[in-house]
Amino acid sequence: MLKPSGERDLIAAYRRRTPGSAELFERAQQVLPSGITHDSRFLKPYGPYVRTAAGARKTDVDGNEYIDYFGGHGALILGHAHPEVTRAAQEALVHSTQYGASHELEVIWAETVLRLLPAAQRVRFTASGTEATLLALRLARAFTGRDKIVRFKSHFHGWHDHMASGYVSHFDGAPTPGVLAEVARQTVLVDPDEPTEIDAALDATDVAAVFVEPTGSSFGMIPMREETLARLRERTEASGTLLIFDEVITGFRVSPGGAQQVYGIRPDLTTLAKIVAGGLPGGAVAGRKEILDQLDFDAMAAAGKPKILHPGTFNGNPVSAAAGITALEIIEKGEVCARANHVGETLRVRMNEVLASKGVPWSVYGTFSAFHLFMNPDGRKIDPVTFSAFDVPWKVLKSKPDEAVNALRLALLIEGVDISGWPGGITSAAHSDEDVDQTVEAFSRALDRLRS
Ligand SMILES: Cc1ncc(COP(=O)(O)O)c(C=O)c1O
Repeated sequence: MLKPSGERDLIAAYRRRTPGSAELFERAQQVLPSGITHDSRFLKPYGPYVRTAAGARKTDVDGNEYIDYFGGHGALILGHAHPEVTRAAQEALVHSTQYGASHELEVIWAETVLRLLPAAQRVRFTASGTEATLLALRLARAFTGRDKIVRFKSHFHGWHDHMASGYVSHFDGAPTPGVLAEVARQTVLVDPDEPTEIDAALDATDVAAVFVEPTGSSFGMIPMREETLARLRERTEASGTLLIFDEVITGFRVSPGGAQQVYGIRPDLTTLAKIVAGGLPGGAVAGRKEILDQLDFDAMAAAGKPKILHPGTFNGNPVSAAAGITALEIIEKGEVCARANHVGETLRVRMNEVLASKGVPWSVYGTFSAFHLFMNPDGRKIDPVTFSAFDVPWKVLKSKPDEAVNALRLALLIEGVDISGWPGGITSAAHSDEDVDQTVEAFSRALDRLRS
């Protein structure tokens, strides 16, 4: 789409606005691989270095303001630096970050999670979402006495060894570099578009658990049909396999009770992070008591079984607990998820109007508080407004044109909007109608920039 001279102009315009970020990136490259700390922050020539953020906006070291659609990778449904959450964390912080002992906040935090999440009878806190899926996996294997897990190709469950193949690469299940072949062999990857493959995988009697992102891969980039979720529940119940909803991103976001509340399906285990800790580091596994009881000293002694090992220095730390409780109590009132979902829907509709008016054969789609941009890598005849991601094979939805995405992100940054490389973004309750108007205008100007 963009000619080399156009790309050079775009990069030059971005560089002119961001000399401070350029300088930090120079230094970062000397100490950090690729100069970054998270794969999704990779951008050419470099991403903006942010100094401060509030509500739906963040400001970089050069004073440029951006309407933010990273949303703390989904952790910030209340927006950046929400006053009540910040106050709660600050109040906790002065009493120490880590007592090496139990404390009242972890009890209130657990009570809050159980009150909000329909399928939670017990909860165990971890330090991240990756740790949560790792613990859920161990609990499932121990509970069922089975080794294998089933995952959907392209679904994300963190970066540990069992979750590495089949997210962005190695869709045949081969081990990614650094992962043992024996470990990769224990995962059965199924095609999200092939119900028969899913059924066959679940008919096997050696599967401990199925992991699923309940709204589909990467918060709906590759959407999941509600019927598929319902069939998963039926089939897993029949085969004694555990159903694990990875609600790290959907939990307390799509509704106060997560995707399980929206769809009325009760998974055996739920993995959580991001919003559960109010935007601070933290995660959790919640679910059926008898499964979580494998972490319980007395329950396992009574059952004559070894207890499952699960230490973790920052599990349930008081600062994350304080932020988590405050955020969840605000979310419990119901308006926050509804507002974030409304912003998502409005953006999808209005960005598609822009695409249609300019005759660009792309589409903005998604559900709840997500928007995904389909950049039509295989040149389909589509109408932005009537486009349905269900009509497109998952591999096509996943195969983003990297250079075009990079160019669009730069063009939007120049126009004061930061989207993720999905490409797309996550909305929050802090996005105002004015933010939406400005985003739509910025999107329109960014498209013109790319076309010129
Ligand atoms: C669905 C899902 N599972 C797991 C993870 C991993 O969580 P964390 O980044 O806290 O390790 C993420 C993070 O984006 C996620 O979206």
